[in-house]
Amino acid sequence: MSTPTRPHRNFYGRLKGKALKKSQKTYLDEDLAALSPGPVDWESNLERVPLDLQALFGGKPVWLEVGFGGGEHLVHQAQGNPDVGIIGAEPYINGVAMLLSKIRRAGVENLAIHPGDARDLMDVLPAQSIDRAFLLYPDPWPKKRHHRRRFVTPEHLEPLARAMKPGAILRVATDIPDYVRQTLEEVPRAGFEWLAERPADWREPWGDWISTRYEQKALREGRVPHYLTFRRVG
Ligand SMILES: C[S@@+](CC[C@H](N)C(=O)[O-])C[C@H]1O[C@@H](n2cnc3c(N)ncnc32)[C@H](O)[C@@H]1O
Repeated sequence: MSTPTRPHRNFYGRLKGKALKKSQKTYLDEDLAALSPGPVDWESNLERVPLDLQALFGGKPVWLEVGFGGGEHLVHQAQGNPDVGIIGAEPYINGVAMLLSKIRRAGVENLAIHPGDARDLMDVLPAQSIDRAFLLYPDPWPKKRHHRRRFVTPEHLEPLARAMKPGAILRVATDIPDYVRQTLEEVPRAGFEWLAERPADWREPWGDWISTRYEQKALREGRVPHYLTFRRVG
C-alpha cells in the first residue's frame, strides 16, 4: 500500500506581514485551535478524511469564504446569518489574527477558520456540502504570465465546484477588468451559470454586502468593483 504524501502546491501570496501585536498573539494562542474545522493539516490528515460538517455546525447550511483578508465580511455574514455555519480560509496569519479580534468583539459562534490554503480545505470538504461560497477580491496577479496563479483557474474551481451543492451560489467580487474576463470564462466552464440579467446585477453590491478592506483601497485608488453571482449547475 502506498503511503499518502502531500501533493506539491506552490503558494505565491504572503503568509506573514508586520510583527503581530501582543493581543493578536494571544488571540492566535487562545482562540484559533477551538475554531479549527478539523484536522485539515497534512501531518494529521494525510488520508484526507472528509470533515464532519454535521458535528461542526449541527446540520446548519454551510458557507465558505476563500481569502477572508481581515475578516470583516466573514464576521458580518456570521452575525447576519446565525442559522448558517461559515468556514473561512486565509493563509495570511496577520489576517487570521484580525479576524480573531473581530470574533471576540462580535461574540459570534457560527464560524470556523482554516488558517491556510483553501486548496487544502477543499480536499477535505465532502462533495456537495457547501451552500454558498464567497471569493471576494482574490489576488489580482495583473501580469499575464501570472494569470495561471489566479484563483479562477481549474486547479481551484474544480474542487470548489465538487464541494458545492447543485443550485448553490458563488459570489465573486473583483476590481480588475481582466479578472472579470477570466472569471466569466473559467467559472462557467467549471459548472456554474452567471446569473446577471442587467448591468445593475454586476455594478451594484449584494443587498447584504459590507465593503471589505481591499474594496475600500480599490475605491480610494479609483478602481471599479464588479459583483458577479453564479449558480452551481446540477
Ligand atoms: C486581495 S486580498 C482580499 C482580502 C479580502 N477578501 C478583502 O476583500 O479585503 C486576497 C486574499 O486572498 C488570500 N488568498 C490567496 N490565495 C489563497 C488561497 N489559495 N486560499 C485562501 N486564501 C487565499 C490572500 O492571502 C489575501 O488575503
